[in-house]
Amino acid sequence: MEIELSAYRKRFLDYVEGFRDVPDAAPLRLKVEHTFRVVEHAERIVDSLPEDEVERQWSEDAGACRAAVLAALYHDCGRFPQFRRYRTFLDAKSVNHAVLSFQTMRDGRFLREESARVRGLAQCAVLLHNRYALSPMLDPAARFVTDIVRDSDKLDIFRVMVSYLGNALPERDAVLLHVADDPGSWTPKVAEDVTAGRVARYGDLRFVNDFRLLLGTWMLELRFASTRKALAESGLMDEVLAGLPDAPGLRPAREKLHVLLEDCRNGRGAAR
Ligand SMILES: [Fe+2]
Repeated sequence: MEIELSAYRKRFLDYVEGFRDVPDAAPLRLKVEHTFRVVEHAERIVDSLPEDEVERQWSEDAGACRAAVLAALYHDCGRFPQFRRYRTFLDAKSVNHAVLSFQTMRDGRFLREESARVRGLAQCAVLLHNRYALSPMLDPAARFVTDIVRDSDKLDIFRVMVSYLGNALPERDAVLLHVADDPGSWTPKVAEDVTAGRVARYGDLRFVNDFRLLLGTWMLELRFASTRKALAESGLMDEVLAGLPDAPGLRPAREKLHVLLEDCRNGRGAAR
């Protein structure tokens, strides 16, 4: 399914241009790259739908597929005013960036040419893309669109995080959200989340290893077979797991994550 995006890409870049004057804006440049990669992932998921045994029926909902790609493009537009005002991407210390993205695209009428349904679905997905969990009552089309953005977003965050986990670069603090780099340490609560098959919470992260564990638990909620496969084939998760300390206390969590990764590789779905 070809979704023509050039006018929307231009609109996004024009919007970003308005943040040119922000000092030390390297983290914002990373957000532009991130955005376009998330769009690519969303397009790939949409293209994979006809071959997806579980999700095939959605390939016939052109409006929902269109909304997903548009939502991917604008999902993080609130990161720009967030960083300009608060100098951080840490929502807990500033503002919920998904709400800000939603308000920005609504007030800027970024999707004014779209039907009310496509616009509504896209705005809903932007608003919900960073929620810890989605309500089971959510309308199935809204859930589908939101899950495409969430899967796509996670796939690129894996790439960004893995590149920063092992390097000391200037943007590192902003990316890793100010956790301590103590190679032998991890937070027991986060390791327990892993063994219990729960997605870890940002608020519990204290060390870089907690980030590794959190990224591992994201495998639990990737919805689309194409995302799980792409993650396994990228080798990124192998890198994340290889960085965890080989301590006896962490062994159950490591083993659990290796099983999840094999499931992704073999196209088996995580329980949802
Ligand atoms: Fe986001």
